[in-house]
Amino acid sequence: MNYDTYFADALARLRDERRYRVFADLERLAGRFPHAIWHSPQGPRDVIVWCSNDYLGMGQHPKVIGAMVETATRMGTGAGGTRNIAGTNHPLVDLERELADLHRKEAALVFTSGYVSNETGISTIAKLMSNCLILSDALNHNSMIEGVRQSKCEKRIFRHNDMAHLEELLRSADPDRPKLIVFETLYSMDGDVAPINRICDLAERYRAMTYADEVHAVGMYGPRGGGQAEHQGATARIDVIEGTLAKAFGCLGGYIAASAALCDAVRSYAPGFIFTTALPPPICAAAAAAIRHLKTSSFERERHQERAARVKAVLHAAGLPVMPNDTHIVPVFVGDPEKCKQATDLLLAEHGIYIQPINYPTVPKGTERLRITPSPYHEDALIDALAEALLEVWERPPLARKRQSANSRPAGICRSNDSGHTLRGGLYSRSAPRAVEWRSARLAPTDRHYAARLDRYRRCARLHWPAVRGRKLWRSNPPVWP
Ligand SMILES: Cc1ncc(COP(=O)(O)O)c(C=O)c1O
Repeated sequence: MNYDTYFADALARLRDERRYRVFADLERLAGRFPHAIWHSPQGPRDVIVWCSNDYLGMGQHPKVIGAMVETATRMGTGAGGTRNIAGTNHPLVDLERELADLHRKEAALVFTSGYVSNETGISTIAKLMSNCLILSDALNHNSMIEGVRQSKCEKRIFRHNDMAHLEELLRSADPDRPKLIVFETLYSMDGDVAPINRICDLAERYRAMTYADEVHAVGMYGPRGGGQAEHQGATARIDVIEGTLAKAFGCLGGYIAASAALCDAVRSYAPGFIFTTALPPPICAAAAAAIRHLKTSSFERERHQERAARVKAVLHAAGLPVMPNDTHIVPVFVGDPEKCKQATDLLLAEHGIYIQPINYPTVPKGTERLRITPSPYHEDALIDALAEALLEVWERPPLARKRQSANSRPAGICRSNDSGHTLRGGLYSRSAPRAVEWRSARLAPTDRHYAARLDRYRRCARLHWPAVRGRKLWRSNPPVWP
């Protein structure tokens, strides 16, 4: 028997469905983020990364790198075991204190990733409450869905951010039954936020516990980076806050912050905590340095929001189908997996712009998109070049046709997977900005300024791209600390 045929067939199925994923071989340049080297088949090329979840560029911050190098030099690299055997090191204990303080909770517990913290955290918490009913938002992340599944508890899925539906489900449940509401505070593919206080109102009224995933909000929202809960003034109302150290904090790992009793119980029962090696001390020290820095420095948060707003304004003015939201995520609708891939391939190969296509199952079929994540380090010239490149790519068939149809799609596309959760994303609202003609008088005055500027770039670029393309875009100047 040739066992490889199973795997070859599975891959062929993915290719048939246009879902086979290809990763770009990148080398980030610390001190020059978002510049990176792409090890392309033709050799190394300088590219600009537009899709990193190192949202604030903390992965290159001198304090963070310094803490990692100093701790590795002093304590070595690995943790040396699971937390139960040899893996509890002082930097990890210090990190947990820092996290508990960030979220104003009694305790925090660190896991090897945000994924693991959701998977093992939700399942353990729910299992420890006899006959628990889980109420889960339809657009929750796969790690939360897995946590719900593994708990083997009864679950009810409420329509995304639909408080009336959540209340209906809570009202119909036995009042004496333990209930756990699980939701994200900021949904990463559409960039919309949860009405946290309204969820907490319902939780209080129906005596339910709350578990909030703050993975795409910690570090970036709230005066100390405590996330959307802090931003919306709801930190004290949420029972369990879950987060990651891998996005705005620029490192690796996940955590929950909650009461001392809850964290101690998860520490004592969760297989995903007990049976795996702890995070290495240098990573813990680096993450703690990032959290500490962002508790007192608002510069990164303010600049991040300002950059995201500018990217949205420029792309909107250019008539590109930006999916509207109030956060730092900039989704640009494509609606077809192959075209999405084609667009990102062209951006990388011809414009030196790296954006990973977002296809099913990350988002529902038919809502494929480019997901752009501006950082504090994406300067005006890079934003203009991005708009320029997108326009150029959008004008080529078959994307040129897509630009029309993207704006006429119906609102509220919902598809369910086998768990009853809706696959992520999918709301391209009717109120989304309509594609406008490049020189249209319908542009707002501020947008017209961008439009004129981009139009100039566009004409220039037409003349210059062939020359730029022919050149090797490698820059040899040494990294400069921000
Ligand atoms: C909402 C959400 N929760 C959890 C995770 C997993 O976090 P991590 O990347 O730290 O494993 C992700 C990953 O992107 C996510 O989007």
